[in-house]
Amino acid sequence: MSRFCVIGLFGLSALSLSANATSWAALPMRVLRSLIEADAVFNGPTVSTYFGTPPQEVNLTVDLAADWLAAYAYDCILCSGGTSFNPLLSSSFQSLNSAWMNSIPGFSGTEVMDWVSFGGILNAPDRQFALIESGANYTLQATIQNGHLGAFVNPSNDTSSSAHIFSQLYQSGQLLNPVVGFRFDPSNPKITIGALDPADYDGDLNWVEINAPSASFDSLNTFSIDGLKGYNGSFIPIGNSLTANLDSLANTIAIPNVSTYISSPGFMGPINPVISNGILAYPCNVTTPYVALSATINGVDYQIESTGSLLRPYTSFSPAEGYCSVGIVNKSDTLLPPSVSLGLPFLRSVYLAYRFPTDGCPGYYGFAFPAGANRTSSQISQTPTSTPTKSAQCLVFTTPTSTPLPSTEVTAQQKLLSSDKYNVYGGEDEAVYLVGVDDLSQMDFLAPVSAAPAPTSTASSNSTKVPMFVPQPTQSSGKYDVFGIPQHELVTLVGVDDLPQMVWNTTEVN
Ligand SMILES: *[C@@H]1O[C@H](CO)[C@@H](O)[C@H](O)[C@H]1NC(C)=O
Ligand SMILES: *[C@@H]1O[C@H](CO)[C@@H](O)[C@H](O)[C@H]1NC(C)=O
Ligand SMILES: *[C@@H]1O[C@H](CO)[C@@H](O)[C@H](O)[C@H]1NC(C)=O
Ligand SMILES: *[C@@H]1O[C@H](CO)[C@@H](O)[C@H](O)[C@H]1NC(C)=O
Ligand SMILES: *[C@@H]1O[C@H](CO)[C@@H](O)[C@H](O)[C@H]1NC(C)=O
Ligand SMILES: *[C@@H]1O[C@H](CO)[C@@H](O)[C@H](O)[C@H]1NC(C)=O
Ligand SMILES: *[C@@H]1O[C@H](CO)[C@@H](O)[C@H](O)[C@H]1NC(C)=O
Ligand SMILES: *[C@@H]1O[C@H](CO)[C@@H](O)[C@H](O)[C@H]1NC(C)=O
Ligand SMILES: *[C@@H]1O[C@H](CO)[C@@H](O)[C@H](O)[C@H]1NC(C)=O
Ligand SMILES: *[C@@H]1O[C@H](CO)[C@@H](O)[C@H](O)[C@H]1NC(C)=O
Repeated sequence: MSRFCVIGLFGLSALSLSANATSWAALPMRVLRSLIEADAVFNGPTVSTYFGTPPQEVNLTVDLAADWLAAYAYDCILCSGGTSFNPLLSSSFQSLNSAWMNSIPGFSGTEVMDWVSFGGILNAPDRQFALIESGANYTLQATIQNGHLGAFVNPSNDTSSSAHIFSQLYQSGQLLNPVVGFRFDPSNPKITIGALDPADYDGDLNWVEINAPSASFDSLNTFSIDGLKGYNGSFIPIGNSLTANLDSLANTIAIPNVSTYISSPGFMGPINPVISNGILAYPCNVTTPYVALSATINGVDYQIESTGSLLRPYTSFSPAEGYCSVGIVNKSDTLLPPSVSLGLPFLRSVYLAYRFPTDGCPGYYGFAFPAGANRTSSQISQTPTSTPTKSAQCLVFTTPTSTPLPSTEVTAQQKLLSSDKYNVYGGEDEAVYLVGVDDLSQMDFLAPVSAAPAPTSTASSNSTKVPMFVPQPTQSSGKYDVFGIPQHELVTLVGVDDLPQMVWNTTEVN
């Protein structure tokens, strides 16, 4: 049976704004349990972010190497992901009437402004971002879903540096410290903005300065590393004065020459791999092999997790029967630095801190071990070779004493859903929440029957009229029957008479 009625009205609760001076936010991230080897599968981390008034939840893809902020429009053509932003639902939305400056043919949008918030705790009113309206680019479809949180503050340009959302939150006095903490590991993935939570990591933070030698680099979040070590603990010979960047959109570790690693059992261990279509793979149908690889940064070895990160589960995407793919690939551009690109297998194995550039300080990455990870005390107690010169000025932070709870915002999407469930006409499935029913504000749907005649002779007919409503507060002159309610219960409707452009039609139901 179907019913069509409106029960209860939804109060409009405004976004609760607390002016949080010097606060911080801890927000859960979503990551895959195991990385998957397939060009078209999204492996990236996402974090829930609120856009607009009332807030809409958009799960932005976290990108460590870029600085732009974007949300996918709800009517974006070919954009991927399950959440998006609908400007029509936001009272604070402003279009800036210009194309997004990074637009390319397969990935384009416009510059817009609206409220942006992390957990309802850290708020950026009138925040400029890109509203992506076209997302046909196949590569970007697979690497970015819902929108983009560029988590890199570009230091090469003061204007763009101070325009970053992290800088704005810091400048507006909302952040305890100019730092962001990341756990990309599947056991407790999270991002903290404004403070580093000592409960999130083991060992001391090993800080290195981010210093791309030239602004023409592909990626600017580049720093020096000592090298990569294989199974026997020796450095793999891939060059001197090595540099690395962090890439949260890549599911691989990219090195100059994979052959150097696999041509030597000393580095790779006692395994007979294959390379199929450029993908390194290990036999895994009898035992689960261990992929040995560590990144050494400022004298500290960071072991890269094998299961679920470097070694992928056997799937239909695996390169050969009985083999699991391994996320170690050739770097596509071997001429330009950085020498090594540390993607998600590395990021899922460490705790990462980012001190973004402010107050005459450059940017720094700090590395530690994720609390709860399988690390020995001798791994955790490794000491860095050197300490950055400006440590006293730039790397002393206030430890938070309590964790601000993200406010439970009722999002615009949730507000659109009815408070009651409704059966679907003709449907055998469970009752559903309907969009918009509760927002028919002040409509007195089940008002007493007036003396006025019904607009059509419904009493003698089986046909049932199902009007479509637009909210208006005046009672109708006629009375109407309601689908699923017996004929004698004719009702007046609110607003029906007052709407010149009302969409009003009848549905014959026999
Ligand atoms: C968005 O992220 C939140 C928090 O991680 C999660 O609860 C929600 O299910 C996500 N939505 C979608 C459509 O993935
Ligand atoms: C898709 O986007 C990537 C990254 O911006 C770009 O390198 C590539 O050329 C684009 N592909 C097409 C077909 O436009
Ligand atoms: C700095 O960045 C802004 C915005 O990203 C850009 O408009 C401006 O041209 C840049 N200035 C320089 C000197 O590169
Ligand atoms: C890649 O490494 C292999 C094995 O060490 C070596 O034979 C080959 O010359 C290297 N290729 C380049 C371009 O360095
Ligand atoms: C590790 O293996 C490499 C390559 O076979 C070799 O050059 C190196 O000497 C080995 N290191 C140790 C400590 O055995
Ligand atoms: C990786 O690059 C090296 C050197 O350019 C080349 O010899 C090797 O065939 C490449 N391996 C794969 C799997 O593409
Ligand atoms: C494992 O895979 C290899 C290579 O395809 C195959 O020869 C072997 O029979 C497989 N073993 C089992 C136990 O499935
Ligand atoms: C912890 O790591 C060691 C090697 O470092 C491994 O032998 C052991 O199985 C791991 N334990 C868990 C629970 O992953
Ligand atoms: C009402 O519908 C029933 C069953 O569909 C039919 O038997 C009956 O004749 C209809 N009555 C009128 C007045 O159309
Ligand atoms: C009512 O519905 C019919 C059939 O779908 C359609 O032909 C007619 O134009 C509609 N009338 C209005 C006012 O929308």
